[in-house]
Amino acid sequence: MEFRHLGRSGLMVSEISYGNWITHGSQVEEDAAKECVRAALDEGITTFDTADVYAGTKAEEVLGRALKGVRRESLEIFTKVYWPTGAGPNDRGLSRKHVTESIHGSLRRLQTDYVDLYQAHRFDNETPLEETLKTFDDLVRQGKVLYVGVSEWTADQIAQALKIADEMGFDRLVSNQPQYSMLWRVIESEVVPLSEKEGLSQIVWSPIAQGVLTGKYLPGQPPPAGSRATDSTGGNFISRMLTDDVLTRVQDLKPIAGDLGLSMAQLAVAWVLQNPNVASAIIGATKPEQVRDNVKAAGVKLDAEVLKKIDDVLGPIVERDPAKTVSPATRP
Ligand SMILES: NC(=O)c1ccc[n+]([C@@H]2O[C@H](COP(=O)([O-])OP(=O)(O)OC[C@H]3O[C@@H](n4cnc5c(N)ncnc54)[C@H](OP(=O)(O)O)[C@@H]3O)[C@@H](O)[C@H]2O)c1
Repeated sequence: MEFRHLGRSGLMVSEISYGNWITHGSQVEEDAAKECVRAALDEGITTFDTADVYAGTKAEEVLGRALKGVRRESLEIFTKVYWPTGAGPNDRGLSRKHVTESIHGSLRRLQTDYVDLYQAHRFDNETPLEETLKTFDDLVRQGKVLYVGVSEWTADQIAQALKIADEMGFDRLVSNQPQYSMLWRVIESEVVPLSEKEGLSQIVWSPIAQGVLTGKYLPGQPPPAGSRATDSTGGNFISRMLTDDVLTRVQDLKPIAGDLGLSMAQLAVAWVLQNPNVASAIIGATKPEQVRDNVKAAGVKLDAEVLKKIDDVLGPIVERDPAKTVSPATRP
């Protein structure tokens, strides 16, 4: 495993991290979840990402149990707040009340005294940014949170937060967690240049496009049994990518991976890690073999010719529009 700095901070993270959205507490049984976490630890992954909302808070519980007994200093545990965790109007968003209550729930479920990174899971258009940033800063001072970051914020939203933090002396954001893969490059034109200038890293999600970039979904054929596309929750998220055009072009990446001696998943994870502003690629897995396959992308270098071949194959299906980074206009 190789390690990178998280933004301009002193924190090092494993360049491949493990996340448990859709899987823990939902798609996979607890034993399989624990085996995946064990495989991640064995392969040198030290950074784990979850969120209060995953599986209606059950994912944090599963991760807490799976990491029990592991030396805390050898782990970086990341979680998030924003999406609803209950039915009430204050069970969501980035108000002082919800953020404070949510971190307490996360710490209890994760069985830890602090999280290494606490992330605003979207921008909350119904809470003054000063209120959220002051609350985050308070949590840092209380030692419940070591670093703060955001997820899926636009360059403009990140810039607003940095301005307030600098004016008020609040702890600065060190990271953003966006979707990023060969197919989804919307951060490249605005978010990445701002982040490079201001000392934030990207910790990117769905680097293999939820499984699509493994090439296991074939055009014109039903999805493989047990795959995310067949899961009642996961199927909703992956379906927009399961078009014949996308799946055919993805099949055409196979010779590129083959020539490099890489699996398709390794090629996809290695691709996001070529961007120096990416501190870590968060991989998901339903089986330990997937973790062991994907983690071999650490340290792989892809040259300019390979990157050009990938672009030529994917052509117009690559999404680059920065306007695709959106948070709900009102709280969900
Ligand atoms: N901040 C946000 O808003 C946000 C949003 C989404 C995700 N995330 C974070 O990012 C993490 C990763 O997201 P993701 O799970 O979508 O990432 P991903 O790595 O793109 O997809 C993971 C899924 O692909 C399939 N897969 C993985 N490796 C494979 C292999 N070698 N061969 C065949 N299939 C393979 C597995 O699903 P099947 O076996 O079921 O097919 C696995 O669960 C999440 O856990 C979460 O921590 C954050």
